[in-house]
Amino acid sequence: MTMPDWLASLHNQLGPAGLLTNPANVEPYAIDWRRLFPGKPLAVARPANTGEVSAIVKLCHAHGVAIVPQGGNTGMAGGAVPDASGGELVLSLSRMNTIRSIDPVGMTLEAEAGVILKTAQDAAAHVGRLLPISLAAEGSAMIGGIVSTNAGGLNVLRYGMTRALVLGLEVVLADGTVVNGLRHLRKDNAGYDWKQLFIGSEGTLGITTAAVLRLLPQPKDSVTALLSVPNPQAALDLLACLQNTLGDSITACELMAGFSLDLVEKHFSFSRPIADGEWFVLIEAASTLSGLREAAETALGDALEQGFALDGTVAESGRQATELWQWRERITESEAKEGKSVKHDVSVPIPQIPAFLVAADEALARLQPGTRVNCFGHLGDGNLHYNVLITDHHPDAVNAVVHDVVQRFGGSISAEHGIGQYRVAELARRRAPEEQALARRIKMALDPDDLMNPGKVLPRHLQDVS
Ligand code: FAD
Ligand code: MLT
Ligand code: ZN
Repeated sequence: MTMPDWLASLHNQLGPAGLLTNPANVEPYAIDWRRLFPGKPLAVARPANTGEVSAIVKLCHAHGVAIVPQGGNTGMAGGAVPDASGGELVLSLSRMNTIRSIDPVGMTLEAEAGVILKTAQDAAAHVGRLLPISLAAEGSAMIGGIVSTNAGGLNVLRYGMTRALVLGLEVVLADGTVVNGLRHLRKDNAGYDWKQLFIGSEGTLGITTAAVLRLLPQPKDSVTALLSVPNPQAALDLLACLQNTLGDSITACELMAGFSLDLVEKHFSFSRPIADGEWFVLIEAASTLSGLREAAETALGDALEQGFALDGTVAESGRQATELWQWRERITESEAKEGKSVKHDVSVPIPQIPAFLVAADEALARLQPGTRVNCFGHLGDGNLHYNVLITDHHPDAVNAVVHDVVQRFGGSISAEHGIGQYRVAELARRRAPEEQALARRIKMALDPDDLMNPGKVLPRHLQDVS
């Protein structure tokens, strides 16, 4: 098939490494991590710098071609893949992988969008600093994707979502204009903080080409413990009890159902570090000061005495801590190996978690008794992944049942993964009309032709919506 002239000229400009058109080469960019949304790219552009991103976007703007930005393609909501029309250009940031600077005194790191999160974490650690964003996909997810999804992950309890760590951004707008806001400032109230619009916008408002992230001092000491708890209420009591003693040194508090551990054991054949149980909590505390281990061991002993935990194991070395974390970090892969699932990424007010779980289980049992649920997540953030292993029901029916309960509890249908294409209909169904109208006004102001990742976050053809 012959290339349109504009694409041929782009090919000349970017070279063979910069524009992929061969079906075998574009195939890895065509489908999402969960393999739920197969698409068909027109081509895959792989710019090497911000100037090239701008040139690609200008050309697409002139020819009315939609662009789908893609980072590590680990997103859980199908946001980074094109539709099946064969008309959308995937713009992969993977070649823009330079860490432009690290400043251990000002505690900032400036990275291009294609830098892999783990590479950025390691670079910060190398100068004694911490980049605290951490998730099981950190070996593949890229800074641009992390920023564009406002990723959460395992350390939100202490350090907040990605948004809390972004100091500056460079973006390319829908018409190709480059806006450089790469300021390394802690305080900057000069005008609108426009970067906040792009953080978490999932590529629907423009393309993030680089970011300045905030670093922290590297903790000297950390304690990781896996505990079994009688029920989710006890897990919350355990967290509160430990927070009373250890304060904000607690960096992570993850809840896992016994079934989640069963899945990891089945698919990875790890040997269990703790007796079987109904619910587990993986907790980590870290400090730049000494004395954490003694304080943590005393606090854990108190929690066991008060019955908040039934049993527990504390990692004695970095290697053991990593092994305990494997039980948490391998859950998603184990679930995928087990088969299809209907995922949920919900949040409710933290004290409501136990009641939410009872209500969700009851509602699901009414839809289909005996359904298996892989429930785990970020307890300390009120964020649960209440994933329903495949049932006879259409996924939309399962989503509706669970999200109805979420709504009753004043929760969110997407705590950290975003909307992508997976949750567009659910968001449109549940958001107040005024909030939806405001979102459309923002989108129309920045992308009036609906060329930036159309059909993600918001329904397509906004021009037609009054
Ligand atoms: P992609 O998947 O490539 O893209 C995600 C979205 O951002 C898409 O809409 C895409 O169009 C847009 N985008 C990507 N790059 C850019 C850019 N430069 N400019 C504009 N838009 C862009 N997420 C969590 O929040 N917490 C977790 O704990 C977590 N754990 C995970 C564990 C596993 C095993 C896996 C597979 C995923 C997990 N995720 C988690 C989801 C995922 O890793 C995050 O959403 C991550 O931020 C996506 O980064 P990415 O580079 O892969 O982005
Ligand atoms: C996690 O917390 O591990 C992720 O958000 C991934 C998932 O939901 O499967
Ligand atoms: Zn998560």
